[in-house]
Amino acid sequence: MLKVINVVGARPNFMKVAPVVEAMRRREREFTPLVVHTGQHYDPAMSDAFFHDLDLPQADVYLGVGSASHAAQTAAVMELFEPVVVKEKPDWVLVVGDVNSTLACALVCVKMSVKVAHVEAGLRSHDRRMPEEINRLLTDQIGDLLFTPSEDANENLLAEGIAQERIRFVGNIMIDSIVKHLPRARESTIWKDLGLADQQYAMLTLHRPSNVDDGNTFSGILEALEAISKRLPIIFPVHPRTRKTIEQLGFSDRIEKANGLRVIDPLGYIDFLGLCSKARLVLTDSGGIQEETTVLGIPCVTLRETTERPVTVEMGTNKVVGTDQGKITIAAFAALDGSKAQQHSVPPLWDGHTADRILDALSQF
Ligand code: UD1
Repeated sequence: MLKVINVVGARPNFMKVAPVVEAMRRREREFTPLVVHTGQHYDPAMSDAFFHDLDLPQADVYLGVGSASHAAQTAAVMELFEPVVVKEKPDWVLVVGDVNSTLACALVCVKMSVKVAHVEAGLRSHDRRMPEEINRLLTDQIGDLLFTPSEDANENLLAEGIAQERIRFVGNIMIDSIVKHLPRARESTIWKDLGLADQQYAMLTLHRPSNVDDGNTFSGILEALEAISKRLPIIFPVHPRTRKTIEQLGFSDRIEKANGLRVIDPLGYIDFLGLCSKARLVLTDSGGIQEETTVLGIPCVTLRETTERPVTVEMGTNKVVGTDQGKITIAAFAALDGSKAQQHSVPPLWDGHTADRILDALSQF
């Protein structure tokens, strides 16, 4: 019997941990799962809604770290997580993704000689200005087992000198959540409630510091959005950090005046997936949404210079265009003018069975 602490911290972690915990509960003779929530994200819309939508059991331990600078937040997670590991004596700690909580908890484990597994290992944007890239690089250096979602991730790890024995290609865990919840998401009435018609709107998410903290960059993106929103409505569920910078940069009036750009509160998992599944186009700077649109077959325009998920470009529906106003508009119009059924395929092992492959590997280690 393996006792496993599953760490969640921020919004993109919940849909990765939920299928793992569910599989551990199903395989109760082999696993005792605990869930530790660091509290990096704490707003109900950024956290509680996901526990509910994903059938994720209440966290066994809530650290309540909240928002702070990177150093203070990472340090707070470490200080509060260490006594949990001392008390629970887990056989494994499982961390996912690339947020500050991921690295902080991995670092605690390695210093205590507690085995740590990293789900979604090996992704690289090769841009070290991104805080997530540092979190990914360091977590993979110290993790005992590295679960990769795609073959490029295996290659990245090997190129960094990581031994093959530590790497397990298990596929994309987020797809387990999509496979389970898509039927329910398609039933969501959120698109009707917002007065939208199937395939007649775009969706937008924006929260990267490099996009929303700099006035010039954000202004350029807004210009592109103003042009695109003349052709179809753009639904914009706003991340709390983006809401703050919109106010600080004085963009509220401008966004209000762009009639087609509709700002709404952050959505839960089911409503977001439901709304995405009926969109004509998605514009985003998120990582996970590049993957979700690939599986859904929805054209995605990524407002970043790089992606750590190149498979979504090579096989999926993703176009990485950067933040230049002209390039965003051209890519969006091309997607709108093209045929809906853009050629795409789903990468290997993005099949809804990744959680069981992870559990098998933990058992066999
Ligand atoms: C974090 C992750 C990022 C991920 C994103 C998804 C890191 C370094 N970044 O970025 O990789 O893509 O989550 O959302 O871990 N805030 C609230 N309420 C909340 C959470 C945040 O108001 O529940 C506001 C606070 O002002 C906070 C700011 O958002 O200072 C940033 O939050 P933080 O967790 O530091 O980073 P994110 O931008 O959310």
